[in-house]
Amino acid sequence: MNNSYPTNLSPVFQQAEDLKKQFSSDLAQAASDDLPQLKIKYLGRNGLITSLFNELGNATREEKPKLGKLLNELKNELSQTLETMQKTKVPGTNTASYDVTLPGRTHETGTLHPLTTVLQEICVFFENMGFTVAEGPDIESEYNNFTALNILNNHPARDMHDTFYLDSGGLLRTHTSPVQIRVMQNGKPPFRVIAPGKVYRCDSDLRHSPMFHQVEGFCVGEGIHFGHLKYLLKLFAKKIFGESVKLRFRPSFFPFTEPSAEVDISCVICRGKGCRTCSNSGWIEILGAGMIHPNVLHNVRLDPEHFSGYAFGMGVERIAMLKYGIGDIRLFFENNHDFLVQFK
Ligand code: DAH
Repeated sequence: MNNSYPTNLSPVFQQAEDLKKQFSSDLAQAASDDLPQLKIKYLGRNGLITSLFNELGNATREEKPKLGKLLNELKNELSQTLETMQKTKVPGTNTASYDVTLPGRTHETGTLHPLTTVLQEICVFFENMGFTVAEGPDIESEYNNFTALNILNNHPARDMHDTFYLDSGGLLRTHTSPVQIRVMQNGKPPFRVIAPGKVYRCDSDLRHSPMFHQVEGFCVGEGIHFGHLKYLLKLFAKKIFGESVKLRFRPSFFPFTEPSAEVDISCVICRGKGCRTCSNSGWIEILGAGMIHPNVLHNVRLDPEHFSGYAFGMGVERIAMLKYGIGDIRLFFENNHDFLVQFK
């Protein structure tokens, strides 16, 4: 449709049309602070619309009602537009308007690292069972990391742990078990404690990382026995891997526990039938445990005749790998976005 009016109409029709366009362009450039000024310019007593109304007198008799209607409509339209603009304009901007009903721009939210999630799940379970959380330093003394835990000088376990020794004489702890020593040295039984944290071993491949996480747990008091440990770990495994999981305690050796056991769960991949993950055995080891060795209790000045306790230790990466079916431990530490978003 052609916007200009036929020349046989008075020019005021065309002027009204031009005024509308001028108004749109003024409005587009106006900042919110300019709106009152714009109102005066168009709708004020000496404004542009008013001056068009003054032209009514010059219009022909037939034109008059048409023109009157047109100008009234124009006036209403302009004042309504100005009013809504006043409500929606952002002060200090010259954006024409914005739609407040549109959803805002979305930002991708971050995710908890799978290790954080699993660690939290482990801690929550034990806290619900009455354990408190304790922490120890990553840099430990040789005494706390080995000697006090009954791992004597020249014991092969010291080599097995591939220890990072520091020039200062300390070492990077190879397990979280030394937190047992720290807690028991500084408190009185009964103890029911878990100790999550980073540990370090000079080892790196698909299943080993030079830094990884462990959770140590122990309970010391009067009359604590292996049955308590078994019951607790059974509940724990079911909580983490599901109700149908089965548990097996396999005799083993650790210098700081006697008797010692390694705890296996029925393979979470093949459900015990036998597969590559469980080397066709149907079982997967998830932690080490046992009754705290009398020498360890003795080293923290507790009478082994009077007190007994159990302890256990597990690798958090290992639990997370089994839970989520992750084949390479290094994925946890590469911060690959594609890997991490899968745990949303
Ligand atoms: N400290 C052991 C390790 O790093 C794990 C462990 C095994 C902890 C048996 C315990 C335990 O408390 O009773 O391999």
